[in-house]
Amino acid sequence: MSRMGNAITRRGFVTVVAAGLLATGLAACGNSDTGDDAGDGNGKIVLGFSQVGAESGWRTANTNSIKESAAAAGIELKFDDAQQKQENQIKAIRNFIQQKVDVIAFSPVVESGWDTVLKEAKDAGIPVILTDRSVDSADKSLYQTFIGSDFVKEGRLSGEWLVEQTKNATGPVNIVELQGTTGSAPANDRKKGFAEAIAANPNLKIIASQTGDFTRAGGKAVMEQFLKANPKIDVLFAHNDDMGLGALEAITAAGKVPGKDITIITIDAVKDGMQALADGRFNFIAECSPLLGDQLMELVKKVHAGESVPARVETEETTFTQEQAKAALPNRKY
Ligand code: AHR
Repeated sequence: MSRMGNAITRRGFVTVVAAGLLATGLAACGNSDTGDDAGDGNGKIVLGFSQVGAESGWRTANTNSIKESAAAAGIELKFDDAQQKQENQIKAIRNFIQQKVDVIAFSPVVESGWDTVLKEAKDAGIPVILTDRSVDSADKSLYQTFIGSDFVKEGRLSGEWLVEQTKNATGPVNIVELQGTTGSAPANDRKKGFAEAIAANPNLKIIASQTGDFTRAGGKAVMEQFLKANPKIDVLFAHNDDMGLGALEAITAAGKVPGKDITIITIDAVKDGMQALADGRFNFIAECSPLLGDQLMELVKKVHAGESVPARVETEETTFTQEQAKAALPNRKY
């Protein structure tokens, strides 16, 4: 090789190294400005969000809230629907890591089994925010914060209302329970809170408890079985409105009057549930707000900027009787 050839080769090498260093420097400054990353180079924060699915009215309202708030906040949203499967969520999170999004948020289908993928996100330097449902990971450094409801409290408030209503009961009060998705935080926690509260009245007995997977179809099918197997059902506690709404069909088909022959308690307070409560077909609802979008976008901006955020952000909620539902319905947003 000639001296000239060497010189050209060396100059070429220096140029490549300089370009490489420049690219590395840019990448270190932020993900959304380089050709490799998830953003389109518009300087927006890129948020990868993995949603549970579309199993209920609550979930639809939650998805709409997240999409609308991301657009309003100028955050680029990469949205994935996991169709209620943990393996789909893990796959989506790995895709977000590969795409080098700036922040990952997700609402975990179930509580357990997240440590490995959360560690992968941490190792890639991508902050994670849990929304709506939490995980049971012992290592809290795997995520920045958890924003959502206190599900134990929702179950407890439901149970306390029932204890008050049945305080003069002289014989057994038979309760059937429609649980949410098996292994999910709301199913585990609502069951726990309700059981703790009804322990105050020994007449209150849960005679059957089964999952309806948070869906109307599941609620209807399981309530049909409950009604066939149990001649005396006094109370239905459904972990969400949708399962309660499905159960209404089964109760009516069995020749019973919902809200009268069977007292019905649910959780969520979506419009259809509130309508059933106002109409006298439900008796009590503990609210669970799906409108998490605005608060989530605030948190996304903060963690992206490296600011500290509280480890837990709790949603404000209330409860509704039939009269309160009538008053609240006209202004209900979801
Ligand atoms: O995680 C929140 C729960 O999930 C809601 O209560 C239910 O309706 C939804 O599917």
